Amino acid sequence: QINEAEAVLFSVPSYACQRRTTLDNCNTTLTDALSLLAENAELSEEDGRGVAFRRAAAVLKALPVRVTAMSQLKGLPCLGDHSLRVIKDILENEASSEVESTKHSERFKALKVLTGIFGVGPRTAERWIREGIHNLHQLRESGVTLNRAQQAGLEHYDDLNQQVTKAEADAIAEIVQKAVDSVLPSAQITLAGGFRRGKQTGHDVDFLITHPEEGREVGLMPKVVSWLESQGFLLYQKVTRNSYLEVNDGPGRPSSNMDRFERCFSIFKLAKREERGTKVTENTVKTKDSVGAHMHSETDQSPPSHSHELDQHDSTNRRWRAVRVDLVVSPISQFAFALLGWTGSKLFERELRRWAGHEKAMSLSSHALYDNKQSRYLRAASEEEIFTHLGLEYIPPSERNA
Ligand code: GTP
Ligand code: MN
Ligand code: MN
Repeated sequence: QINEAEAVLFSVPSYACQRRTTLDNCNTTLTDALSLLAENAELSEEDGRGVAFRRAAAVLKALPVRVTAMSQLKGLPCLGDHSLRVIKDILENEASSEVESTKHSERFKALKVLTGIFGVGPRTAERWIREGIHNLHQLRESGVTLNRAQQAGLEHYDDLNQQVTKAEADAIAEIVQKAVDSVLPSAQITLAGGFRRGKQTGHDVDFLITHPEEGREVGLMPKVVSWLESQGFLLYQKVTRNSYLEVNDGPGRPSSNMDRFERCFSIFKLAKREERGTKVTENTVKTKDSVGAHMHSETDQSPPSHSHELDQHDSTNRRWRAVRVDLVVSPISQFAFALLGWTGSKLFERELRRWAGHEKAMSLSSHALYDNKQSRYLRAASEEEIFTHLGLEYIPPSERNA
């Protein structure tokens, strides 16, 4: 029995997939701080710590009021000692010394700039830092061998680190729709990722492609990519069979369906708004992520010597810009799982899988839901049905912003 004085102010369920988390966040100071520590942990390949900070931040995002006193946090889940210390520091001193020192550390800044290159993960960045490479200038001078993705990432660094707007996402959607219509009429595209959750900007644009008749989607990806390529819309593309670890989550071998599930990491060449001929009344000044801009000015001090750099630095005069786009083809039988899996947020997805495994003895992936007790796959034609199978209240995309 809870004592009156100890009564919790807000009751927050412990799994993020049990909560409604909109984009309204009254605690951005605290969540930004915890997210930065999460990012630092992830960049240092300390995923456990990263998740702990992400979970703590997500709890604060779900609160309906701004936290001003530690007493308000009593009884809330997922707030570990470390996160509580950071929160306390900020409430008492306006800033957390740990966050500030991390933010300004050479290591964090270098990891952030280098992993800001498409195709560069924490491990590669770490290796380069050990070799004395801390910024783009040093990377360009170093003569290290870059793969095709990294070359494209470096070449289009500024564009790819500038947030994609909703208007740009819509313009990309039009192009992808046209591609799909040209190669397989009645195939359908669906916007997923952050934009489906109602975000106004994103780091990329995510699309799912399917066809209402099972099997018709086979071989679709290469055709869509060829069409886009022939029309000059692609700066980079890599089609992979989806070899994401999760397909091995469930018992037994993945069904042959899995082989049809394909994804394409790409960089689109998107004509600028003026060139696309849309309304001029829209704001043409693109907002730039302040952290990104700051990081860039401090670390990329390379003079515009090569022609591609000239091109990059002179991007305002270019008639197009580079935008990251993810395409995923799913058979209609798996579409609900793919849609749920590719809508995010990343933490929401992780929590859904943890809920499924720990609370329901089920394995959830973006292909299927397997019930370990009944030893069978549970079908679903909609996201709502998947939530029902999982014994969860349905949470719409706009409330999955954990
Ligand atoms: P922004 O792009 O920054 O706006 O955020 P986002 O939420 O759209 O993130 P992102 O594009 O990275 O990922 C979108 C969703 O796809 C997230 O829920 C991820 O968990 C999911 N996702 C990303 N990569 C993979 C993958 O390789 N396999 C699967 N199944 N899902 C993935
Ligand atoms: Mn995205
Ligand atoms: Mn993506």
